[in-house]
Amino acid sequence: MSTAVSPDAFVLPSSALRGLGTRPFGVYVHVPFCATRCGYCDFNTYTAGELGTAASPASWLEGLRRELDLAAGMLGTPPAADTVFVGGGTPSLLGAEGLAAVLDAVRRSFGLAEGAEVTTESNPESTSPEFFAGLRDAGYTRVSLGMQSAAPHVLRILDRVHTPGRPVAAAREARAAGFEHVNLDLIYGTPGERQEDLRDSLDAVLAAGVDHVSAYALIVEDGTALARRVRKGELPAPDDDVLAARYEQLDAALSSAGLHWYEVSNWAASEQARCRHNLGYWLGGDWWGAGPGAHSHVGGVRWWNVKHPARYASVLADGEVPVAGHEVLTDADRHLERVMLELRLAEGLPLTALDSGGVREARAAAAEGLLTGDGLAEGRAVLTDRGRLLADAVVRRLVS
Ligand SMILES: C[S@@+](CC[C@H](N)C(=O)[O-])C[C@H]1O[C@@H](n2cnc3c(N)ncnc32)[C@H](O)[C@@H]1O
Ligand code: SF4
Repeated sequence: MSTAVSPDAFVLPSSALRGLGTRPFGVYVHVPFCATRCGYCDFNTYTAGELGTAASPASWLEGLRRELDLAAGMLGTPPAADTVFVGGGTPSLLGAEGLAAVLDAVRRSFGLAEGAEVTTESNPESTSPEFFAGLRDAGYTRVSLGMQSAAPHVLRILDRVHTPGRPVAAAREARAAGFEHVNLDLIYGTPGERQEDLRDSLDAVLAAGVDHVSAYALIVEDGTALARRVRKGELPAPDDDVLAARYEQLDAALSSAGLHWYEVSNWAASEQARCRHNLGYWLGGDWWGAGPGAHSHVGGVRWWNVKHPARYASVLADGEVPVAGHEVLTDADRHLERVMLELRLAEGLPLTALDSGGVREARAAAAEGLLTGDGLAEGRAVLTDRGRLLADAVVRRLVS
């Protein structure tokens, strides 16, 4: 059972608060509601049937306001948010009005920095032109839509409820409402997905005219309905060679259309189209993660909230912070994280971040075609196209 702590018991050390506001500061808000659960997903999210009367969007919003107020107090002089990311779960289930209330709460507790990036995830089936217009009015600047695939049989295996054409229509509606920055999420390697299915998905993405794409290999997460189906032999597990071929197909199609990778799973049409909030995570920035199960990081201290929305709301109603646990990162933890995250960026990792053994391994990896020679000459470890397919293995070598 998770424990909550009184605001006095969870105190950020002054060493963590030092420099706060000089690094990018983000606010993540977790919306733990979905209309139905997709069989592959193990995110902290609940259907109305699962929650019953124990929690609701109203009790969650009340808790969120309280958490953000406590957060501002705990940070002393809270920095204005450079980025806000409302994720889930399915934020679009709150409607434009609910999402406006979320952003108002962030504004009230932290304020928004000039030119802040404000993103919300949305499921295509719970969006409309009026929804996007409402988000613009509220101050959102970016929308991320869960498309996953354009192939009906792939969407069925994933238990996605939207029609194949809806994500592209939604992306166009978002653009027509004035959103310059729109992302589509794809999943590749789903059992039964053929090369031509992915080609159709990519054609649809490109027809939508979005400036950002995230594409993830399907992960069979323990405890999900998908994992049970794979275990029973009803569905094959994604195959590593197929995943590599699909990644190459994706990268070729996106880059020839002007969307270039800037992180192994993310492509953008320009520097301005990159997701600044996620760059904050990858570059060791500070962020407060609010909502059930959300994780936070400030100056080398990481903590995470109680997971269940009912417990989250009740802990906050009692005036306590909903923190379930925390850890102070050691130098070794921070080094490993830095290598893991920065090596995945197109800019790569400065070799000065590696110890002498790591630099030796970087030279060997370059000789094997996994890191670029140009990058190395400039003092950086930058993955080659082949290196991107083996990024995790390269990380292990650089830190061992
Ligand atoms: C957790 S969802 C939240 C946003 C929204 N509900 C949606 O589905 O797009 C964010 C992204 O994570 C992806 N995702 C979740 N579980 C995954 C898995 N097991 N393998 C790959 N991608 C996954 C989703 O498909 C989605 O694109
Ligand atoms: S809609 Fe998104 S968050 Fe909800 S279950 Fe599906 S993948 Fe997970």
